[in-house]
Amino acid sequence: MLLDGKVAIVTGGATGLGRCHALELARQGARVVVNDLGAKADGSGRDESAARAVCDEIKSLGGEAVAHFGDVADWNASKSMFEAAVEHFGDVNVVVCNAGFIRDAILFNMTEKDFDDVVRVHLKGHFCTIRHATAYWRERAKAGGVVYGRLIATSSESAFFAPPGQPNYSAAKAGIIAITMGAAQLMQKYGITANVIMPRARTRRACVGPRLRGLGEGRDGGVAADARAEVPERRALDGRLAAGRARPALREARAGQGRLHGARHVRSGRRAMFWA
Ligand SMILES: NC(=O)c1ccc[n+]([C@@H]2O[C@H](COP(=O)([O-])OP(=O)(O)OC[C@H]3O[C@@H](n4cnc5c(N)ncnc54)[C@H](O)[C@@H]3O)[C@@H](O)[C@H]2O)c1
Repeated sequence: MLLDGKVAIVTGGATGLGRCHALELARQGARVVVNDLGAKADGSGRDESAARAVCDEIKSLGGEAVAHFGDVADWNASKSMFEAAVEHFGDVNVVVCNAGFIRDAILFNMTEKDFDDVVRVHLKGHFCTIRHATAYWRERAKAGGVVYGRLIATSSESAFFAPPGQPNYSAAKAGIIAITMGAAQLMQKYGITANVIMPRARTRRACVGPRLRGLGEGRDGGVAADARAEVPERRALDGRLAAGRARPALREARAGQGRLHGARHVRSGRRAMFWA
């Protein structure tokens, strides 16, 4: 299998896309740390059962997984994810930064708290995870030997389209591209890749508008299938470009006839590219 013997961390791995990432990585042979504090779609609340359930699912498929319940935007909690991976599985090879939530409001109505919280979870959450990942891999490289490191960050088309109802989210997602491009340049000499994806999936947080409300409920299985088909994990993990068509699927989903599929942005080399 593609990832036999590898160790992966997935942040926000308990639901939606993160759950898809975790399951697919396990199917490809990776041992997985499923990080998730079990927040609701707006970031409130805590619940450890969802991350545990994904770990149980992975184990029932014959894989290995351990849950981690830390907040990705907390420096020490983020660091402890890496410690947990090393303690349980001996290494870290693949890191998928995925955790986050949205609290949309039109620019002139957005509260300071909603801006701060959303920027914190996405931008600082990515920063902490990427910071600890790159430091870990650099130490490994300095100690000698070949290091296998693959970093996947999660942005959104909002970073480019800048919807006025998501100033917090779009700003954070744009910042994630910048951090990841810097990481890619920095880590290139160690043979480590850093890529950004811009997914679309019919998850609970994506289905909050009047036309999409309810579409994501209870559909993680469907999302898993969609995400696997539309977000080419294998190519992303290999650090190559991925392309695809998303608009027809989006129109279908808006009309309530289909599922949302993945538009994606993949960072490779020194250029940023985008398809929609
Ligand atoms: N669904 C889409 O169409 C879409 C589009 C573009 C980008 N994205 C991005 O993909 C990622 C996953 O989105 P999703 O739709 O699967 O959402 P989701 O709400 O289904 O899953 C997000 C997960 O992150 C966890 N989480 C939230 N705050 C956390 C924190 N501080 N620490 C650890 N875990 C935390 C939640 O508990 C949840 O399990 C997000 O970064 C999102 O912005 C999604």
